[in-house]
Amino acid sequence: MPPSRDLLARITRLRELFLDEDRGARALADYWRNEADVAAYDAVLGARIGWKWNAALAECRDRGWPRADDQVVLDFGCGSGIAARRFVHWFGAREVLCHDRSRVAATFAAQAVRAQFAGTKARALPRVDDVRPDVLLVSHVLGELDAAGEVELEGLIERSRRVLLVEPGSRTISRRLSTLRDRLLGGFHVAAPCPDATTCPALATPNDWCHFFAAPPNEAFTDSDWVLTTRALGIDSRSLPYSFLALSRAPVAAAVPTQRVLGRPDQGQHVTKVLVCEPAGLRTATVHKRSHPELWRTLKKHPETVRAIEG
Ligand SMILES: C[S@@+](CC[C@H](N)C(=O)[O-])C[C@H]1O[C@@H](n2cnc3c(N)ncnc32)[C@H](O)[C@@H]1O
Repeated sequence: MPPSRDLLARITRLRELFLDEDRGARALADYWRNEADVAAYDAVLGARIGWKWNAALAECRDRGWPRADDQVVLDFGCGSGIAARRFVHWFGAREVLCHDRSRVAATFAAQAVRAQFAGTKARALPRVDDVRPDVLLVSHVLGELDAAGEVELEGLIERSRRVLLVEPGSRTISRRLSTLRDRLLGGFHVAAPCPDATTCPALATPNDWCHFFAAPPNEAFTDSDWVLTTRALGIDSRSLPYSFLALSRAPVAAAVPTQRVLGRPDQGQHVTKVLVCEPAGLRTATVHKRSHPELWRTLKKHPETVRAIEG
């Protein structure tokens, strides 16, 4: 069924606000007008962010990130609460606290968690001043915070035992995330995606940034409702760039990998170039079709599944 004009109008308005290049460093004012705005966001933009969370959470799981079945999880700047729902799906939670400057959004998010996970308590949390969550989730919020919001978030991070941030894969936001990472290193271990815990190598030169691409599920190409909606909105379903950071007070169990592939491979006919992050810094590695045919093919067909090319 073609998407309704109402849905398209609500999402178009939100995307124009998010992509407004004239805004500069000014923070966005509260843009949620009502529950229908949040529901429209959740159905399209939220779903895409959920796929990014799936990719980040899979990597956390593979790096030994422990479950949270008996823990309190706080979603800061929750919007429709897609981050909380993806997290509970992968790692569980005893209680989810949904915080947003918009009461409409926080109420929607808590209700959505309760509707999907009958065994998990969830409620809107208007203030975060004193809360000390076991797990703090932050999703696509950094770019919207004013100075006061940043101070509030950093205070909350300091009071959290584990922190997961998933942000857009843009150069500006990713570098902001890397800068935050380096500031927080004293008190946290980096659980993912970094190969080790020294200063972020992507910050060494101005043109690099730590980002990845998530694989959209098949339905993004086979579900006719989804295809019609994204086509009408001009959204490229193939592209899901994101950056992320998982922090933990306690070291996580799994071995730290020696490298992490960044961005998209530069695919040639016989040679593919891949940017890898290693403890010594960023390096462009080459994969030859002739000597490594399987890896070369995987980099061509499913590049987002390749986290390391050596070791
Ligand atoms: C782009 S939306 C992302 C929503 C959700 N986290 C997601 O990933 O889909 C950013 C959210 O941050 C909220 N927000 C912006 N500034 C905030 C602040 N200072 N404190 C709390 N929430 C804030 C907005 O109301 C909005 O819901």
